[in-house]
Amino acid sequence: MQDTLNFAKQRLEKNGYLDLDVDPTLDLMEAITKLKKEKNMILLAHYYQESEIQDLADYVGDSLQLAQMAEKTDADIIVFAGVHFMAETAKILNPSKKVLLPDLKAGCSLAESCPAPLFAKYKEQHPDHVVVSYINCTAALKTLTDIVCTSSNAKYVINSIPEETPIIFAPDKNLGAYLQKETGRENMLLWNGACMVHEIFSHEKIVKLKLRHPNAKFIAHPECEPHLLEIADYIGSTSGLLKYTQNDDATEFIVGTEAGILHQMQQKSPEKTFIPAPPDNMCACNDCPHMKLNTLEKLYLCMEHELPEIHIDPAIIERAKLPIDRMMEISAKAGL
Ligand code: 13P
Ligand code: SF4
Repeated sequence: MQDTLNFAKQRLEKNGYLDLDVDPTLDLMEAITKLKKEKNMILLAHYYQESEIQDLADYVGDSLQLAQMAEKTDADIIVFAGVHFMAETAKILNPSKKVLLPDLKAGCSLAESCPAPLFAKYKEQHPDHVVVSYINCTAALKTLTDIVCTSSNAKYVINSIPEETPIIFAPDKNLGAYLQKETGRENMLLWNGACMVHEIFSHEKIVKLKLRHPNAKFIAHPECEPHLLEIADYIGSTSGLLKYTQNDDATEFIVGTEAGILHQMQQKSPEKTFIPAPPDNMCACNDCPHMKLNTLEKLYLCMEHELPEIHIDPAIIERAKLPIDRMMEISAKAGL
């Protein structure tokens, strides 16, 4: 058994997770709940995680809410059911804590689209610009950033910068274009990155779906392309979309974001109908392949063996924390 564990640890870097067999008769929900208590762990889950992981979590939220929870927790260990940049942010905000991620390969197409060395060169060409980076980026990119933002506080972050100051917004061009429109800022350069999940929705299929469901409202995340946002009845972050479905009178919603959030929407409003916005692909699925790398088995193994763990160079933590702290201050002032 020890040999198998050692072998799995050696292969951790290559696999991204502990590749061990789990007893198929084990009640994973019960085992995970027990581990959380025994080891004083907090389990944070993003809305895009599979529903069973959401049900087990101590807190389910959007990127900002999860960062806020990670910063203030007094648990000994933070277990992050989300993607790599989220767990990395938790570590930067709370460096003395052990932060675990069930699968280190749970990445993000936005983070991948903006390699720090390339961005550093771009930044050098625009020395008078303030850099605002969407939290969906690497810790290395955050070290090149003035203020970080999430989809729920991005407008406040942009509006905190004097109007005459030019801005570079990275890495999401769709969120950037939405912010340009909302804030009226013309002096904003956009990095050419996008989310592979939110770029895949089909305008044509959504329009047809709206015709078939005339009373349904189409709600969309600002990572969607501009031509989709134009036909949306409401645009917001994951927590914003969830709140909207709870407070709005409509009873039917076409949801333009990753399908994992439908679990919370359905739980909070069981009498309402939620239709995932159809993507422009053959498999008709709009799951984030990165988010869905986390499974109950991997979560259990990660909590049992306290691996894989997030490690970041202390010098990177020190520099990357500054723009995140600025974001936290702006969010607190805005009451978010
Ligand atoms: P929010 O959680 O800020 O809504 O962002 C969604 C997302 O794509 C996270 O990867
Ligand atoms: Fe990244 Fe998009 Fe997946 Fe979010 S949904 S983790 S932005 S690829």
